[in-house]
Amino acid sequence: MNTAFHRGRRLRQKAPLRALVRETSPLLAEDLIMPYFVVETGDRHFRKEIPSMPGQFQLSLDELEKQVEAAPELTSVLLFGLPSRKDDKASGAYAENGIVQQAVRRLKASRPELLVITDVCLCEYTSHGHCGILSADGVVQNDATLPLLAKTAVSHARAGADITAPSDMMDGRVAAIRQALDAEGFVQTPVLSYAVKYASAFYGPFREAAQSAPASGDRKSYQMDPGNAREALIEARADIAEGADALIVKPAGPYADILHRVRQAFDVPVCAYQVSGEYAMLRAAGINGWIDEKAALLESLLGFKRAGADMIITYFAEELLKQKLVR
Ligand code: PBG
Ligand code: ZN
Repeated sequence: MNTAFHRGRRLRQKAPLRALVRETSPLLAEDLIMPYFVVETGDRHFRKEIPSMPGQFQLSLDELEKQVEAAPELTSVLLFGLPSRKDDKASGAYAENGIVQQAVRRLKASRPELLVITDVCLCEYTSHGHCGILSADGVVQNDATLPLLAKTAVSHARAGADITAPSDMMDGRVAAIRQALDAEGFVQTPVLSYAVKYASAFYGPFREAAQSAPASGDRKSYQMDPGNAREALIEARADIAEGADALIVKPAGPYADILHRVRQAFDVPVCAYQVSGEYAMLRAAGINGWIDEKAALLESLLGFKRAGADMIITYFAEELLKQKLVR
């Protein structure tokens, strides 16, 4: 009998041996970014669970502050805002006292060492729910949207945001934001660009959480077509040329191949965004006892690291840290 075949099992016999030869280091607490939804409301104790995202909440400023204080292991957060009023110009997005701007000031006061990242987009603030300004005939206007995104990013930086993260997918927005930040003296504020963002069904629960679903139409004229992989590299290259300091690939799970390609093609830090739909699926299966939720979650996150992610945005971040599932 020929026994000269490859014996992969030799190096799998014992835990310390498997650890020695493991190619991807385990997830670290400092790799994780936790998203929060903060609501502009007169009710200081407002705290509402998001039906499609069990365990995630819409929070008032006070509740957000409490939530973050109760998670001292958390090093980075990503903020989304729900304004009390919406209009066709997304005024709430760049209001100096807008909800995200207030939230940044709060968190910076209570947890100065916390890294605060802000999502820069208009869809939570427009009455029509699109990520940009609409023309009279309902087309999302690219160039007219750029100054508003730039104003939004500057207002976040002025409030104390450490990083601005544009998610709108307008062309040229990284350059517009970089220029505006520099002009206002925020040369040191990085831009973490959602460079590679697909038009995905996996954003469904988020749109309930952020009340940002488009009133009519979809986002396919600005977000990427799921069939395209080479285009991801074009988008990434453009954003780096415009001054992006790091890139996000989104969603992460169904697009791990894209994560890997972007990692191979570019040298900037890359972030995987495990989106709301990915959260909802794991959580639902976990709640029903259909899957070992913790094990499946850690395996998913390890997959993002193996694909090349330096950092991960996940709604599980807070729980992972609290339950000491990562160190
Ligand atoms: C806003 C934005 C969205 C997400 C992040 N920023 C929604 C969208 O583009 O429709 C999705 C996040 C998630 O699903 O977890 N542009
Ligand atoms: Zn948007």
